[in-house]
Amino acid sequence: MSSRIKFLKEAVKNIKTLGTVTPSSRFLSKRMLREIKFSNADVIVELGPGSGAITKYILENLSPNSILICFEINDNFYQQLQELQHPQLIILKASAEKIVDELKKLQIDRVDYIISSLPLAIIPDKISNEILIKSFEVLSENGSFIQYQYSLSYFKKLKNVFKESISLEFEPLNIPPAFIYRCKKVV
Ligand SMILES: C[S@@+](CC[C@H](N)C(=O)[O-])C[C@H]1O[C@@H](n2cnc3c(N)ncnc32)[C@H](O)[C@@H]1O
Repeated sequence: MSSRIKFLKEAVKNIKTLGTVTPSSRFLSKRMLREIKFSNADVIVELGPGSGAITKYILENLSPNSILICFEINDNFYQQLQELQHPQLIILKASAEKIVDELKKLQIDRVDYIISSLPLAIIPDKISNEILIKSFEVLSENGSFIQYQYSLSYFKKLKNVFKESISLEFEPLNIPPAFIYRCKKVV
């Protein structure tokens, strides 16, 4: 079964946690990663990797001593990601709001980049706020939280946490077209 069909099957069962019916295009995936300085990124976290549309590009660019830690709650995607079998990849079957606790277990207290494709706009407010606050907390100074969304409805909530340090881009070559928020931790 192709990975697109597998994704669609998961979306039909779990639309409230996926928020879309198709994985990110290569255009969106690459644009998400465009400003990452991989040579300075020791720890990268991905929230909601799904079937690995963006994950595979992160792994392609990862420096030899860096690691990628993924948080995914969907059982079938978690199994699919295990098949990537990359020595620098750690896949956690854990929800994104547990980011601080889960990283502590791995003895990690700072991350350089958080790449998120979580459907924040449909995650309950209390949880999505917690995800943003804990992501901010664990980012290193000048680290970035990079998020795509299909609308601008979440901009205000990102601003509440990251203040004015947010830049916005648009990627038309995706179904649906998507906005990319690059949120920098400035302290
Ligand atoms: C829109 S899909 C993105 C999949 C993939 N990254 C892509 O861009 O094609 C959102 C993903 O977030 C996952 N997800 C939703 N809520 C989550 C949470 N609280 N913690 C971790 N993953 C979550 C879903 O299971 C799904 O795989």
